[in-house]
Amino acid sequence: MMSARAIFGGIQRRAFSVSARNLSKVTVLGATGGIGQPLSLLLKLNPRVTELSLYDIRGAPGVAADVSHINTKSTVKGYGPSATGLADALKGSDIVLIPAGVPRKPGMSRDDLFNTNASIVRDLSKACAETCPNANILIISNPVNSTVPICAEVFKAQGVYNPKRLFGVTTLDVVRASRFVSELKGTDPKDEKITVVGGHSGVTIVPLFSQSGHPDLTSNADLVKRVQFGGDEVVQAKDGAGSATLSMAMAGARMAESLLRAAQGEAGVVEPTFVDSPLYKDQGIDFFASKVELGPNGVEKIHPIGEVDSIEAGLLEACLTDLKKNISKGVAFVASNPPK
Ligand code: 2OP
Repeated sequence: MMSARAIFGGIQRRAFSVSARNLSKVTVLGATGGIGQPLSLLLKLNPRVTELSLYDIRGAPGVAADVSHINTKSTVKGYGPSATGLADALKGSDIVLIPAGVPRKPGMSRDDLFNTNASIVRDLSKACAETCPNANILIISNPVNSTVPICAEVFKAQGVYNPKRLFGVTTLDVVRASRFVSELKGTDPKDEKITVVGGHSGVTIVPLFSQSGHPDLTSNADLVKRVQFGGDEVVQAKDGAGSATLSMAMAGARMAESLLRAAQGEAGVVEPTFVDSPLYKDQGIDFFASKVELGPNGVEKIHPIGEVDSIEAGLLEACLTDLKKNISKGVAFVASNPPK
């Protein structure tokens, strides 16, 4: 017969392990920027987040003090670039979101941001690899098609790369596709689950309407173009003041929420996201966005592309050509500019 002490100990241990699993430290690197601030706000409103850690080269303590007054249970702390600021911000993180870097101005492609953002992502990735190598890393900084491989190369160089824990946030492409289709069809966007695959830039963004309940839309070239270049609409409308920040923050927060749901035991959580993927490795393309089932260890299962029609097959071909170049550019950057 079990002693009372053993039973109590068992209950205590179980209670501890359940609550430990539900403690989630989420860190934002670049928390005071256009995306970082609304992202921090949305994360503060998320009851699954128990500790919110905000880092930036300036202003993070102010943003942290501000959101910390919101009456949800999570604690919030801001960190600056002191000797240990970044490491303190990252220590114990379960999820790290990286929106740090500069945004586009009219006429720029995401690739035009490479020179500035590549080294920012490289250096932040190194800090993550050193301090929280097991965290899920969610890259928002553009060009995502290149910054995700940059992060992977840095983790590999540190000997801690886990392909299941690195994600390029492509959620905004799915969000846009769902909204644009609902506008066209007069439906509720929540019912429009549009699969978008490939990457996160121009023609690398491939909506698959034929498998999303709208085979008639694959020939709608304007709609396809709108999904692929939706970010440009915002860049133009902001007229020099940057790119999408609010919708991108929503997309990043949704991706973080999906990972937290999966980590906290929910089965069948699927998000399209840009990950280390077997789908086109035989063509030398190591990263690809497709529907990914999430789990407590990050990537649980990468879904195949599935059936596509001939128009979509053409879009995929154009996507792969660009994507290969974008990925190689990121890999080459780290090879010739290793982190210090
Ligand atoms: C966009 O898609 C900022 O890359 C972001 O608008």
